[in-house]
Amino acid sequence: MSKKILITGGSGLLGQYLNIEAARENEIVTLYNHHIGNCKDFKSAQADITDFEQIKQIFASLEPDVVIHTAAITNPVPLPGQNPKDVYNTNVNATKNIAQLCDMYGSKLIYISTDLVYAGYRGSMLKEDAKLIPASLYAETKLMGEVKVKETFGNYLILRTALLYGFGLNHSRCHFHKMYEELKNNKPVKLFVDQYRTPILLQEAAEIIVQLAQMDVVNETINLGGVERVSRYELGEILCNVAGFDKSLLEKITMDEVPALPKVEDVSLNTDKLQSLGFKQKSIEENISKIIRGN
Ligand SMILES: NC(=O)c1ccc[n+]([C@@H]2O[C@H](COP(=O)([O-])OP(=O)(O)OC[C@H]3O[C@@H](n4cnc5c(N)ncnc54)[C@H](OP(=O)(O)O)[C@@H]3O)[C@@H](O)[C@H]2O)c1
Repeated sequence: MSKKILITGGSGLLGQYLNIEAARENEIVTLYNHHIGNCKDFKSAQADITDFEQIKQIFASLEPDVVIHTAAITNPVPLPGQNPKDVYNTNVNATKNIAQLCDMYGSKLIYISTDLVYAGYRGSMLKEDAKLIPASLYAETKLMGEVKVKETFGNYLILRTALLYGFGLNHSRCHFHKMYEELKNNKPVKLFVDQYRTPILLQEAAEIIVQLAQMDVVNETINLGGVERVSRYELGEILCNVAGFDKSLLEKITMDEVPALPKVEDVSLNTDKLQSLGFKQKSIEENISKIIRGN
């Protein structure tokens, strides 16, 4: 059944795929802030999620059935001049306000959290009840966003999302896309051999999130990851195999060689809970073949 879906962060890496996927069978309003991306192709509005009055008005006029809240300050390390208070205000306070508005309007809230909330040194294939020790301000504020959502009401889904890969749309670029562009131009790329994740394809994540928006699943925290645990280097190897790029362009590095980045050894996700809801996912190789063919 068609739903009224409000998407925050509609101009982001994930948000633009959500716009496409959600609009297939639903009425959507998608929000952007500094970039417009593909929001221009949908019913959209420019809004700063930290402006409570503006967000309140959007809720009042749309009365959404579902809110997919992806908007966040997402850089793992603060950018030069970035004030941690702004990160907190965007990722925590605005999330709390959105949860409260969802409660007021009877909207189901899908909060896009991250695998980085888990303790990255504890081992692999982490279940939803695994130890939580975020290693960066970004991850810490995403976890605090989760807490605010849970404190507010029960009509939520928290999706702890793994590293997203694929091709960013318009202005948007993820690490995978940059790696693809470098390798295609025969340039070397440095990749961690000691950082493991269960990456999920952007399109696959968007499809699952939109299906979850339709389903009667609430009051749950669910890992949203891919089916394979790989290091960053192994992901690069799969890309080279599928795309026919020269593997000698891949340079092995360790996290110790990039001390400025928070060390996250292994936040690969156990996705039994997700699988129990009936989702069928593809291997990384199948997914990369699919997006390269379509590109
Ligand atoms: N990328 C990943 O690998 C990954 C992995 C796990 C979880 N996640 C989570 O998934 C979500 C989406 O990530 P992403 O990679 O798509 O992020 P992204 O590309 O950095 O996009 C962030 C989005 O948030 C919007 N935004 C930021 N501050 C805002 C504000 N004050 N008001 C309104 N909008 C604001 C941006 O709008 P403008 O660009 O228009 O300013 C943009 O649409 C995030 O919540 C992130 O924590 C991402």
